[in-house]
Amino acid sequence: MHVGPAVHLAARAHEVRLLLEHPLPPEVAQVGLPPGLERAVPRRQLQFRAGRYCAMKALTALDHRFEGCQVGRAASGAPCWPDGTTGSITHTHDFVSAAVALTTDVDALGIDTEPIVSESQAQDLADLVGGPDETARARAAGMSENEAFTFVFSAKESIFKCLHPITGEYMDFHDVVIENVDAHARTFAARITRTVSRRFPRQTMLNGCFEVALPWVHTGILLPSSRRDSHYHHPDSGGHRTLA
Ligand SMILES: CC(C)(COP(=O)(O)OP(=O)(O)OC[C@H]1O[C@@H](n2cnc3c(N)ncnc32)[C@H](O)[C@@H]1OP(=O)(O)O)[C@@H](O)C(=O)NCCC(=O)NCCS
Repeated sequence: MHVGPAVHLAARAHEVRLLLEHPLPPEVAQVGLPPGLERAVPRRQLQFRAGRYCAMKALTALDHRFEGCQVGRAASGAPCWPDGTTGSITHTHDFVSAAVALTTDVDALGIDTEPIVSESQAQDLADLVGGPDETARARAAGMSENEAFTFVFSAKESIFKCLHPITGEYMDFHDVVIENVDAHARTFAARITRTVSRRFPRQTMLNGCFEVALPWVHTGILLPSSRRDSHYHHPDSGGHRTLA
């Protein structure tokens, strides 16, 4: 079953989602598996196949010239997008989504969906994922404690998925702080606290979006193309900066 977009990344990105508990299009089963997943459990294989199916559908919706294009897999696990495109894939046990965009519009994007964690999970993982101020900001935006923790976790996963393919750098959860959560606009702002690369120095601000739709929290982040106005604020720029 196809469902509408999880987060409003911007008109320039196209997202396709599937609920895995519903009957799936037959093309999902035809998606080939990479060598690393040939012996994976059936649910993981299904998640991979459904993610690639969503990615291919989203690419075709973006532009028909991408119909039939394959989305590979890098050694890092990141998807390899057809030339001229970029995107991101996420899945939970029963939900899969892929978002894609043209590189003339978008340099990179990251999406993440997480099932809302239990209270004990939130308590056990709290220090690993962020500080109390971050969840407090999400609480102030109307989220429950468990939703707030899940949101902070998911937002950071989206940021990692967006930045890692262009920086090649691994990031710790404390390398990013969620500084602002706007309940009305369903947007958030995050600050990078450690220089990740020349393009993403300490204090860089990133803007993302989110949706709390039980039982999930969806988050997304998108970097507009360097050739356009950027959604992120470089600390040295004194304003919104066009990426060079
Ligand atoms: C790789 C990672 C981001 C996956 O996130 P997850 O919530 O566990 O799983 P999701 O289902 O949402 O996403 C899985 C998809 O992410 C994509 N992915 C995997 N590695 C990736 C990478 N390095 N860069 C971008 N996307 C990646 C893949 O498409 C994968 O699905 P597939 O294998 O079926 O193609 C996560 O496991 C991880 O290693 N995170 C690093 C730590 C981190 O996020 N720190 C926060 C720093 S701010």
